[in-house]
Amino acid sequence: MKYDQLIIYYFSGTGNARNAARWIINIARERGIKTHLINIDRLKTVDMPEITSKTLIGFCSPTHGFNLPPIAINFLLKIPKTKKTDAFILNTRAGMKLNKLFLPGISGIAQLLAALILLLKGFRIIGMQPLDLPSNWLLVHPGLKQKVVDSIYTRCNRIVNNFATNIFNGKRKYKALLSVPIDLTLIPISLAYYFIGRFFLAKTLIATNACTNCNLCISQCPVEAIKPVNDKPFWTYKCESCMRCVNLCPHRAIETTHGFSSLLIFVSSLVISPLLLSGLKYLDVLDFVYKNEITKGIWLIIDVVFLLIFIFISYGVLHFSMKFKFVNTIITYTSLSKYKFWRRYKAPKVTINL
Ligand SMILES: Cc1cc2nc3c(=O)[nH]c(=O)nc-3n(C[C@H](O)[C@H](O)[C@H](O)COP(=O)(O)O)c2cc1C
Ligand code: SF4
Ligand code: SF4
Repeated sequence: MKYDQLIIYYFSGTGNARNAARWIINIARERGIKTHLINIDRLKTVDMPEITSKTLIGFCSPTHGFNLPPIAINFLLKIPKTKKTDAFILNTRAGMKLNKLFLPGISGIAQLLAALILLLKGFRIIGMQPLDLPSNWLLVHPGLKQKVVDSIYTRCNRIVNNFATNIFNGKRKYKALLSVPIDLTLIPISLAYYFIGRFFLAKTLIATNACTNCNLCISQCPVEAIKPVNDKPFWTYKCESCMRCVNLCPHRAIETTHGFSSLLIFVSSLVISPLLLSGLKYLDVLDFVYKNEITKGIWLIIDVVFLLIFIFISYGVLHFSMKFKFVNTIITYTSLSKYKFWRRYKAPKVTINL
């Protein structure tokens, strides 16, 4: 037997990566392999069970913004160095289905970055598998219908069985490498999401007056991003938009503020940026700023920082204003997630503790 121990570390916002990790664990158990399934939520240090030459390490995580979520990157950076321990990576992505056609998500650098970090830590990558489980990005689209979810799950279960059987038999499987040309093209977007986009998205969730202060969202957030402020959950910039809280809230009290966020984008791009530019003109430094690519780049960073500050302040004001009935009503009814057709998404077999 090639492996006698399997350790899988996983992060999962809404349960897809967790389910995929469990499928692999079950196959390993059927083969008499000793297994450890470790959730990296709120993990401060990485304690690794004793590793031998017959140990296989697995790492499962969703894809966020054509990249790994920051919690997953931070975890990989903390993982202890090793000497040629075999490892595989599985990233879940936004799977969809159009009639009978299964549509894949896009990994971007999610697989490549994980592989690079693990290689630098001394691991030997023996498998890289993307997995198109149902998309959970509620900010962008409603949760998929149950029938579609079930059908995507059946397909993915087959793919994982195949992948796990192959790697346990000592074969190497690098399905993720097929999309490398597309993944590399998307690097600028992955970086923009990591350094800017995710901070904006962190400020798109809000608790409406339907909130009963049960604190479930606070206790279940994998990165402790929600704090009670003024007796209501407040989303800090640490939020990774994993969508867990939105889906778990028993009162559907968390909305995705489509109306408010669109207004913020509109005001940021059409008011704040032009205002900053007229400030440069007024100070007579516009020619200097636009002199070369470096000064233009620095200005772009300053512009983005101002926009983020504006967004953070606006979100703070919104949070405190939600106690007024008319603000709460406007925000609630301009959020698509308020409407019944905007289904929440929870992966099959997900209980509260992911
Ligand atoms: C904020 C956010 C960003 C996402 N970005 C991507 C992406 O770049 N590519 C992709 O294929 N799926 C993307 N997705 C979809 C998830 O990766 C996918 O639904 C995954 O299966 C969720 O796994 P989980 O249930 O374990 O969290 C994104 C989802 C969210 C919430
Ligand atoms: S889970 Fe829902 S009801 Fe409970 S505190 Fe969070 S927003 Fe409020
Ligand atoms: S606040 Fe909600 S969406 Fe953000 S990381 Fe925590 S559970 Fe995920």
